[in-house]
Amino acid sequence: MTDPDRIRILFVCLGNICRSPTAESVFRQRVEAAGLREAFEIDSAGILDVHQGQPADARMRRHASQRGYELDSISRPVVPEDFARFDHIVAMDHQNLADLLSLLPDPAFHSKLSLLLDEAPELNRREVPDPYYGGAAGFEEVLDLVETACDRLLERLEP
Ligand code: 4NP
Repeated sequence: MTDPDRIRILFVCLGNICRSPTAESVFRQRVEAAGLREAFEIDSAGILDVHQGQPADARMRRHASQRGYELDSISRPVVPEDFARFDHIVAMDHQNLADLLSLLPDPAFHSKLSLLLDEAPELNRREVPDPYYGGAAGFEEVLDLVETACDRLLERLEP
């Protein structure tokens, strides 16, 4: 059931196995540390459905767990109902945002879409780079960028 009093946030990347599961877990940790668990509903999804039903990428989970985050999400694609259900749909890169726009069932939902890194202009970055085909540094970079942006996102949305 959808609780009308909760702020509902959906993080979106391409495969829903690296970046958006990380954002989901990091943001949930921040929310819980602030004692706001009941105030938020947090989820993640992918543009693609090719990893549907799979846990997060093992490399991403390993890097995340070294910072104390357990990535327990199971990949699922964005579905049309997400645009009505969630208040904030937060993309990792410009292509995700363009893909979300192409899936938008109603122009009224356009204002729900954003880029995660726009929460943290001090990073001087707009995209969380896809780490899937790269090495360890890419997974660490995802964590660095997501941690900073999730801090700012919670500051902005904190009830
Ligand atoms: P993500 O990374 O979008 O951060 O989950 C990717 C995972 C899988 C693929 C691309 C990006 N893929 O093409 O399978």
